Amino acid sequence: MKTVIQSPVDPGFMQNPYPFYDTARAEGDLVYWEDYKKTAAVSHRAVQALLKDRRFGREVPNELHRPGPDHLSPWLQVEAHSLLEAEPPRHTRLRALVMRAFTSRAIAALEPSIHDLSHALIDDFPDTPFDLLDAFCTQIPVITICRLLGVPAEMSPNLLRWSHAMVAMYQASRTRETEDAAAMAAQDFTAFLGDYIEQRRTDPQDDLITRLIAAEEDGEKLSRDELVATCVLLLNAGHEATVHSLGNGVKTVLQLGLGPQVFAPDQIDGTVEEILRYDPPLHMFTRYAYEDVEIFDHSFKRGDEVALLLGAANRDAAVWKDPHRFDPTRHIVTNTSFGGGLHFCVGAPLARLEMRIALIALFRRWPTLHLSEAPEYSNTYHFHGLTRLMVQV
Ligand code: HEM
Repeated sequence: MKTVIQSPVDPGFMQNPYPFYDTARAEGDLVYWEDYKKTAAVSHRAVQALLKDRRFGREVPNELHRPGPDHLSPWLQVEAHSLLEAEPPRHTRLRALVMRAFTSRAIAALEPSIHDLSHALIDDFPDTPFDLLDAFCTQIPVITICRLLGVPAEMSPNLLRWSHAMVAMYQASRTRETEDAAAMAAQDFTAFLGDYIEQRRTDPQDDLITRLIAAEEDGEKLSRDELVATCVLLLNAGHEATVHSLGNGVKTVLQLGLGPQVFAPDQIDGTVEEILRYDPPLHMFTRYAYEDVEIFDHSFKRGDEVALLLGAANRDAAVWKDPHRFDPTRHIVTNTSFGGGLHFCVGAPLARLEMRIALIALFRRWPTLHLSEAPEYSNTYHFHGLTRLMVQV
């Protein structure tokens, strides 16, 4: 296996990681990424195969489990009970409870409220240059996930603050300050949810928190810690990636000067899929090997970690002709932006719905929308999103 070297905080890489992915993929399905000290899967077939291979998983193998440092304990406590960090049978139980609320009917029922929200936000756009990421791309997913869970939308500024501090723990630029901020955010978020859940116990509504509270009261299905961790995960995952899918997508469309035809009813689904493939908001997730595995000419030992580079898989020329070209009309092939296998994104249908409605509304109301400043990506790898998206209508 070839070794590749690339700092994830290098400014050029941050702005455009795709040339590095091409160089790495030219070396094979798997490479050793020196800066992460990890094997990385870079081809579409390797990323897909490892996502689906049950001999690999997200939960830390028992013998590698170490108690984390004290200063991180509120954050670790949430992580320890998260569905995203669990494998069966715990994962199966938690995911089944969440999926009850994510039925296609429940998601489709959100359509009118996402539509109204998009138009209300557009009504408030100023006629001077403004940050679309803040005024539009962030508000749609955060308010929608609040509504789905049954958390007052007025809480969204706090949720955003807590969420940003907590997910910064996964960024290559993480420091001791990042850790302190994440621990504090986890503590405040957990305290808020603790109080809110108590309040809602006596005031049940038709929403996800009420259903999860009922599952907790049932006894065996959901512990109190799991209830809180599930709400935190849904509130965080429910907006972080969608914000930047919208931001990266609008940026691409404006830079390429694509016309309103890409948002026509018979084309919008292709456009959303191409946005997700071409410039996804999450570029890397990792897995542990649970047994010794021989795959893609490499021998994994139990406990070895492998990084799955979703952003690299989506630009694999073995699957997409001319993969660096943004082409909303191309034949849709499942991309890896929502992962795959057991942990496949719970919110994929919701994210697609939000993107479809928001993009149609935005470009129908403002066909002359244009960039007022060159957008830049932030130093947050493995997240891949803009610092801001200055536009003018
Ligand atoms: C475009 C937006 C989104 C993208 C690109 C995205 C991407 C992903 C990816 C790649 C994973 C799998 C991680 C892994 O395999 O290690 C994942 C898992 C997850 N996502 Fe999303 N996501 C998005 C939106 C959402 C939304 C809107 C929600 C909630 C409403 C959500 C909730 C979750 C949850 C709960 C999991 C964990 C599933 C499990 O472990 O079984 N996501 N997402």
